[in-house]
Amino acid sequence: MARRALITGITGQDGSYLAEYLLGQGYEVWGLARGQANPRVSRLRKLLADVQVVRGDLLDQGSLISAVERVQPDEVYNLGAISFVPMSWEQAELTAEVTGMGVLRMLEAIRVCSGVSRGSAASGQIRFYQASSSEMFGQVSETPQTERTAFHPRSPYGVAKAYGHFLTQNYRESYGMYAVSGILFNHESPRRGAEFVTRKVSLGVARIKLGLDTELRLGNLEARRDWGFAGDYVRAMHLMLQAGTPEDYVIGTGRMKSVRELVQAAFAAASLDWEQYVVTDQALHRPAEVDLLCADPKKAQVQLGWEPTMPFDELVATMVEADLRLLSNGGDPDQDSSWP
Ligand code: NAP
Ligand code: GDD
Repeated sequence: MARRALITGITGQDGSYLAEYLLGQGYEVWGLARGQANPRVSRLRKLLADVQVVRGDLLDQGSLISAVERVQPDEVYNLGAISFVPMSWEQAELTAEVTGMGVLRMLEAIRVCSGVSRGSAASGQIRFYQASSSEMFGQVSETPQTERTAFHPRSPYGVAKAYGHFLTQNYRESYGMYAVSGILFNHESPRRGAEFVTRKVSLGVARIKLGLDTELRLGNLEARRDWGFAGDYVRAMHLMLQAGTPEDYVIGTGRMKSVRELVQAAFAAASLDWEQYVVTDQALHRPAEVDLLCADPKKAQVQLGWEPTMPFDELVATMVEADLRLLSNGGDPDQDSSWP
């Protein structure tokens, strides 16, 4: 019988790549989607008709229990979150509820449905993946960051992720559950939300190239990130749940670029000079910035055999080309209508 996966955050960037990957591996894939008429579900269905949808919300414990009872998954991937860092200052409580407490609710749903209690053997159990984040490192104490680097989160989002991370570890230790966290560094693709800097830049470049805009307004150009391709990172999530022992892993490329270098690469991909178009705006700076993030993914490379495949320049050029195609064909990224 096909193995069954339940993915929260199915309508997001990673949900789509993970679903695509697992379907290719022969899984029966179920996605948890919220709301009574979520337009992002039809976008997903257009791309991946074989994904089955179960309604539920990380804010609603009962809905998660019902989803686990209905799907009877072998593996649960908890990707659902308020994931945009600036929003976490504007809606800190909601971020804590979804991104932090949502992890507790999902773990409880699994624990209750598989009859796990303190001291009971948790064999044959549902395996759980938590989408932890390099944002937990925040003001970094060392570079590159490993599984042992201390956390110093710099946003309500980072704090909520740290709660989910420690809770996942705690359920593993308290109940013997197969529960792991992937500490993923920034990963991007043509399906990235338009609010994140890589996609904001690739869309901005495409608009300027097509004569639809004359400038691109950005915040801090000096921040540095370790950017990889989302398609590579979902393979790592799956590998973590196939390992003999449940452990946490850092996933990233080990290479750091600044926002300025991202901008240069994106404009160069469209044969444009970025300095003619980019305007910096103090209003887009954050109350507390994460200045740099850079992964040391050695553990994942050695123990899981995981490697990233797409270099930074290729990733940026791919995103710019995809957005040029999207806008040239009359697509509207704000309407969630089309996904490459
Ligand atoms: P994304 O595109 O923003 O997707 C977020 C998903 O969460 C969406 O499907 C959204 O559903 C869902 N969601 C929001 N509120 C929810 C709720 N109350 N109940 C259930 N689902 C809810 O994020 P992503 O880039 O795919 O990232 C996936 C996960 O990895 C997130 O947890 C993120 O924090 C984490 N992460 C991402 C990165 C990265 O660089 N991409 C790095 C490290 C960690 P709707 O469509 O209904 O809004
Ligand atoms: N979004 C955005 N918009 N960011 C900008 C802008 C802008 O106009 N100008 C400069 N930046 C800088 C931000 O200040 C930040 O330092 C960097 O670009 C990256 O911002 P985002 O793309 O919004 O990503 P993030 O690093 O804050 O968070 C992403 O990665 C985390 C993993 O490290 C998200 O995907 C999180 O969900 C994820 O956990």
